Amino acid sequence: MSAEQKNPLREGLSGERVPPPNTMVIFGASGDLTKRKLVPALYSLARDRLLPSTFNVVGVARREIAHEAFRGAMRESCDKFARRRPVEDSLWDHFSQALYYSSGTFEDPKTYEKLKKMLAELDEKRGTLGNRVYYLSTPPSEYPVIIKMLGEAGLINKSKDGPFTRVIIEKPFGRDLESARSLNQEVHEVMREDQAYRIDHYLGKETVQNILVFRFANALWEPLWNSKYVDHVQLTVAEAIGVEGRGGYFEGSGIVRDMVQNHMFQFFTLMAMEPPVAFEADAVRDEKLKVLKSLRAMPTNPEELGKFVVRGQYGAGSVSGNPIISYRAEKDVKPESAVETYVAMKMFIDNWRWAGVPFYLRSGKALPKRVTEIAIHFKKAPHSIFPNAASQLATEPNVLAIRIQPDEGISLKFFSKVPGPTMDVLPVPMEFRYGTSFGAEPPEAYERLILDCMLGDGTLFTRGDEVEASWAWIDRIEKSWAESKAPPFPNYAAGTWGPEAADQLLAQDGRAWRRL
Ligand code: BG6
Repeated sequence: MSAEQKNPLREGLSGERVPPPNTMVIFGASGDLTKRKLVPALYSLARDRLLPSTFNVVGVARREIAHEAFRGAMRESCDKFARRRPVEDSLWDHFSQALYYSSGTFEDPKTYEKLKKMLAELDEKRGTLGNRVYYLSTPPSEYPVIIKMLGEAGLINKSKDGPFTRVIIEKPFGRDLESARSLNQEVHEVMREDQAYRIDHYLGKETVQNILVFRFANALWEPLWNSKYVDHVQLTVAEAIGVEGRGGYFEGSGIVRDMVQNHMFQFFTLMAMEPPVAFEADAVRDEKLKVLKSLRAMPTNPEELGKFVVRGQYGAGSVSGNPIISYRAEKDVKPESAVETYVAMKMFIDNWRWAGVPFYLRSGKALPKRVTEIAIHFKKAPHSIFPNAASQLATEPNVLAIRIQPDEGISLKFFSKVPGPTMDVLPVPMEFRYGTSFGAEPPEAYERLILDCMLGDGTLFTRGDEVEASWAWIDRIEKSWAESKAPPFPNYAAGTWGPEAADQLLAQDGRAWRRL
């Protein structure tokens, strides 16, 4: 066996995981996501021989361009962004023959007639058997019309018999409960729930999936995973970049809608849920939903809410020596914008496992570094028999840190005796690093998710009721903020760890944020 064949990251992905022939139609083919993520992910899958032998991509966008021009643009993208680089010419020749393009506006029925004809011809010519994956990678305002038009054009097979149709819907899925509900209704008019693949790329990250393996393939943690042993949990997504030209989008979103409702709630629910009966779509999603349903609702009175949620917006500063302009100075951002680029929250899950355990969550742009992690702070040792270490043991707990990115891994902090004649103790880490243990780069999140969709496995996608439950919880915060005055923004400088009030949120409970 070659070293590559032995790569454990690929075990279980090869062999039986090759999907049936199909055509993937990408709406929004001229967009950034197609260029940076989707087509490069497809190329890397092809390179790893994980795509079916008969497979097509049809890009749909407004602009009129020829198939060849689309192929040329996608080659440039793969040269820049594919995980499997450099792109191999002979493989590219084969792969690019599967790339097609069809122009049209999303509101025009002719776009779908033309597409239908092209898909039928491709089935005939290339043997794709009528199986379809539609990928909605357009601005979210276009989702309802595309879904409706696909249905009206007869491009969705709602029946469980015959060729499959699946629809991948990019985030954001709605911007509040009402819009998410109405989008769910549009979806359910034309397809079954199990044909809708609401994507959240965090679920495609190896380290997020590893939360499940870590918790449920090891008997060691489960007895400790509850309010008896856990003091509190800290969930962090820190980004070093500002909004970087995405001001127009961010003004309509803010960090809670952009990061918390979706990405953070995904790994938070996996970390907190009960053991599912199986690693299967509905079993896993049922448990995640229960966590969301057990989340204690936030107070809507702004003053009360302030005791649980702190919002921030960055002013000018610098990260690693690079200057960052203030959020309000970004293109398309209002000079007096009240949109939050930072949030810290204290949440409670009112169920048997977690009663009384605070979950502190924070996410922000323009923070000192990029880190995503879950840190489980255990209760302190009840009593110290080491006089030299009494105060240390009384203040520092064991911490299990699951590093989602970068430097993916898991570390457990515990106390050890300092070598020497006295009984001094110091915290030391027990470390697992992906890079060292597996010696390979994990696949891109989109590769895993696209492959799962082609295979009909929705485990790593979000169900409609789950999205609605998360919006129902988030809406109370957004509504209270919309109706009250924001704190004086900016209230943290780019390159710092957020507003002071975020530190007070923990200090009032006698705790502090972990230094990352
Ligand atoms: C996107 C958000 O969904 O996720 C961005 O819109 C954010 O604002 C990005 O930067 C973070 O993704 P990752 O994979 O870089 O952590």
